[in-house]
Amino acid sequence: MSLLDEVTRLETEALREIKGADSLEALNELQIKYLGRKGLVTAVLKTLGTLPVDERKTVGAQANRAHQDLENHFQLAAQKFSTTRGKKDFDPTLPGTGPRTGTIHIVNRVMGEICHTFYGIGFETARGPHVETDHYNFEMLNFPPDHPARDMQDTFFVEGGRLLRTHTTPVQPRELEKRKPPVKIITPGKTFRNEEISTRAHVSFHQVDGFLVDEGVTMADLKGALVAFCKAFFGSGLKLKFRPSFFPFTEPSAEVDISCFLCNGVGCQLCKYSGWLEILGCGMIHPKVLENCGYDSEKYTGYAFGMGVERVAMLKYKINDIRLLFNNNLRFLRQFA
Ligand code: DAH
Repeated sequence: MSLLDEVTRLETEALREIKGADSLEALNELQIKYLGRKGLVTAVLKTLGTLPVDERKTVGAQANRAHQDLENHFQLAAQKFSTTRGKKDFDPTLPGTGPRTGTIHIVNRVMGEICHTFYGIGFETARGPHVETDHYNFEMLNFPPDHPARDMQDTFFVEGGRLLRTHTTPVQPRELEKRKPPVKIITPGKTFRNEEISTRAHVSFHQVDGFLVDEGVTMADLKGALVAFCKAFFGSGLKLKFRPSFFPFTEPSAEVDISCFLCNGVGCQLCKYSGWLEILGCGMIHPKVLENCGYDSEKYTGYAFGMGVERVAMLKYKINDIRLLFNNNLRFLRQFA
């Protein structure tokens, strides 16, 4: 057999064996058998020197090509093994590693839940700007010019004499000016105060205000709405207490306490052993506010209320530090996902 035939025979034989190799180890052995230092194809290459020059050229080229081809085939076959080996190690009974999906932040979720309980009794949402004017944040709401909330110590002022709204209540005159009674609105959003950050206070937090203006609206309507909200949100067994209070934009004004849902009013750490939790401020819209918005206060009356979202969330989920809500610790936040 000529050397050229020998090369072809070896190549065919090697390819057949590569095809039949059933492990990476077998493949390695074959590679040594054909292409190793003492391998069959290598041996042929070594004898090239004994051939006459013209024959050496053609046989040499053919042998080198066969050598290269076989090397490629070994590489391809090895790749096949490394992937099938990966598949063999795959354990379908292990729990999967699904993609991590985001969730709604606890503060946004609670804010949405508060709004939803009011949608159920016919309220609709309105929002206002974070950067407010003194006009809507204070003046329209009957704050006197020397009210302490207007102080730099309490309010962030920005360029152009404007300020970061200190409550969501300015949405009330903004909407009342635009609409005609009956107006029944809930106003979720961000608020800002120049506070020392502590376990209970933050410079940026959220509120939900609500108000209803129509003919013949009374304090009884306010109580009805708030009782419905507190029971839907905290639990149906609750008791509510209306305590007299003061806000410049409501008259009369009240603060609402709910019986502590943790101890049922007996007294515990959450309610500081009083049996009650302060939950929101409310009242009948001051006639001056209605007049400021162009309403006849003899004909129309209204109620209003406002609550802090973080406060409500902290009570509901027994969170003892407001900062936990904002420092983006995922282990904390995922508890509420
Ligand atoms: N704006 C008040 C605050 O930030 C909360 C409030 C009290 C809102 C009574 C109201 C209300 O609409 O009627 O403390």
